[in-house]
Amino acid sequence: MAEVKIVRSAAEAGVIVAERIAAQIVDNPALVLGVATGSTPETTYRSLAELVRERSLDMRGVRAFALDEYVGLSPEHAQSYAAVVDREVTRPLGLQPGNVHVPDGMAADDASSQMYEQAIENAGGIDLQLLGIGSNGHIGFNEPGSAFDSRTRVTALIESTRCDNARFFDSIDQVPTHAVTQGIGTILEAKSVVLLAFGAPKAAAIAAALEGPVTEDLPASILQRHPHALVVVDQAAASELTR
Ligand code: F6R
Repeated sequence: MAEVKIVRSAAEAGVIVAERIAAQIVDNPALVLGVATGSTPETTYRSLAELVRERSLDMRGVRAFALDEYVGLSPEHAQSYAAVVDREVTRPLGLQPGNVHVPDGMAADDASSQMYEQAIENAGGIDLQLLGIGSNGHIGFNEPGSAFDSRTRVTALIESTRCDNARFFDSIDQVPTHAVTQGIGTILEAKSVVLLAFGAPKAAAIAAALEGPVTEDLPASILQRHPHALVVVDQAAASELTR
């Protein structure tokens, strides 16, 4: 069962999770971080960047793997996850660019998906995976119906996800229809996972993920079975929890 922390704000969550990551980096300067993109982890990256500066953390050995990438967006596209990770993670945290990996949205085939899996394995696996949750319960871009043993692959985005993400683009037509994502099976192999969710639009998905049945129809529900899962939510996202 996941440990659940209810906090007052996304900023508070960011401080808590950043402290946890910073402590792990002190213990293991070659930590392998799994990084989500989107709005949810922004406060964590900001707080962690502050801790890196204040405590002069040595980030030269820290590795990072992104959860996913849009198919058809090159790293030069401002909304590609390669660009987002570079802006929000690599530069502010002072990571070595060569230690930061994002699936190749321009190759987006079985061979490059397998290479991504291999790169994670070669790094010794992910120590701490940060996750957001879609309003439909997706993690990474594993939409409802994704197999719990799925691996990194190309997958179609469902319409509601494209609508949710249209805010990052000029119009919904520009939101890619496909993505490369770590699979649920890949995510589950992370030694620990931290799922973050803020705001009322996430409340139903959080309640279903934590208190509903474990089902492929609600991908995040599998985190109930992860041995080291922490869920940090604000009061709005926690508002439909009953236990
Ligand atoms: C992003 C990702 C997605 C997002 C989710 C929530 O790398 O894998 O699962 O975490 O769609 O997005 P936000 O945080 O923008 O609400």
